[in-house]
Order: sequence, then C-alpha cells, then structure tokens
Amino acid sequence: MSQTLIAPSVLAADFANLQRDVEMINKSEADWFHIDIMDGVFVPNISFGMPVLRDIVKHATKTIDVHLMIVNPDQYIQTFADLGSNILTVHYEACTHLHRTLQAIKAAGMKAGVALNPHTPVSHLKDVIADIDLVCIMSVNPGFGGQSFIENTYQKVKELKQMITDAGAATKIEIDGGVTNKNAQQLKEAGADVLVAGSYVFRSEDPIATVAGLKELTK
Ligand code: DX5
Ligand code: ZN
Repeated sequence: MSQTLIAPSVLAADFANLQRDVEMINKSEADWFHIDIMDGVFVPNISFGMPVLRDIVKHATKTIDVHLMIVNPDQYIQTFADLGSNILTVHYEACTHLHRTLQAIKAAGMKAGVALNPHTPVSHLKDVIADIDLVCIMSVNPGFGGQSFIENTYQKVKELKQMITDAGAATKIEIDGGVTNKNAQQLKEAGADVLVAGSYVFRSEDPIATVAGLKELTK
C-alpha cells in the first residue's frame, strides 16, 4: 500500500510570517500545500485570495493543492492555473454542471478535485468518478480551521473507496478537517490517500515533528 500523503493547510499558518511557515513545510516531510480559498458566500468566512497564493507559490517547493470554497468556481479556473495551482478542487454543492467544470480544470493543465460537504453522500459522484483525480471528503463543515472531526467520515471513505475500486478509477481520497494523530491511522485504514491538517500541525510546538509523526502513523 502506498504511503499516505500529508497536506498541511496554510490557513492555520502565521500570515505575518508566511514565508517562514512555507519554508518550514518545505523542510518537513509534508507532501502538499493545502490552500483554502473562501469567498464569504459559499462559506461564512473569507480567507485569502490570489495575491497571497502568488506569494506562497514563489516559496513553496511542493505540490499546490487548492481547495475552492467559492460560488461560481468556473469563473476562476484559468486564474488559478496561471497562479501555479497543481490541483484545483471545487465543491460539488457549488457546481451545477460538474462534469463540464472537471473538464475545464483538466484542460487548464491541473488535476481536478471535488469536495463534498458532510451532508453530501458520496454516491452523488458515481457517474463522474472516473473523471475526478481527487475527492476531498469534508470531515468538518467548511469555513473554519480548528473544528472537531465528524465520525461519520470513516463510513464515507469506505464507501467511496469501494466506488473507486468498482469503477477501476485512480481517484485519490483526501480528508479535510479535524485531522490529528487520533484519527490519522483509522482514516488510512478506511482508504484515505491524503490527509489535510491545519491547526494540528501549525499550532503544535514543533510542526516539523508533528508532520513526521503523521507520516509515521500512516506508513
Ligand atoms: C476548512 C478547510 C480546512 C481547514 C482544516 O474549511 O477546508 O482545510 O484548514 O483545518 P483543521 O485541520 O484545523 O481542521
Ligand atoms: Zn481545505
């Protein structure tokens, strides 16, 4: 079985010391940078936008995994490609024509991801699963870091893993929200490929050691 990828969420970084925190993640065993873009409409919070992402990309040496929590994501696909995003994830709940959106993301040269809110069943992705590079299962309600993990997530991961296997697809499963050393191993066992961790990494005393701990738990 392949190693689980760890994606620290920059939302929990110190924005007044962003370069320092990006370089710290570069040095760590983390695999991806998870970038949360919120518009204050799709979710009840505003995070940061294009200029901040541009500066993160300048210093980051790992895959840029962008999670759009915005309405009308189609409008910004090319912009996020130009900024250097490697993976672009849109919300199922924000896309009326999801199949078209997925094709547009890939045509812009990025991997295409779909995020599911806690109330959205994974079965809604059945007819497009082979077109999706990454499914991001929200294990909290999107909008804020530091919330507690929703236990029903394990069941969703197992169901999604089965759907991917049945379709013979290569889709990766990412878990986002409330990830810690308490649930990492069980998530991997359920079928998770990528774990996003924000406050658990950045609020710890030694984030580099915390990332190493997550890697060790999910070997
Ligand atoms: C929530 C974001 C998450 C968040 C995770 O809306 O999508 O990526 O940063 O933060 P933690 O790990 O603190 O729950
Ligand atoms: Zn996220």
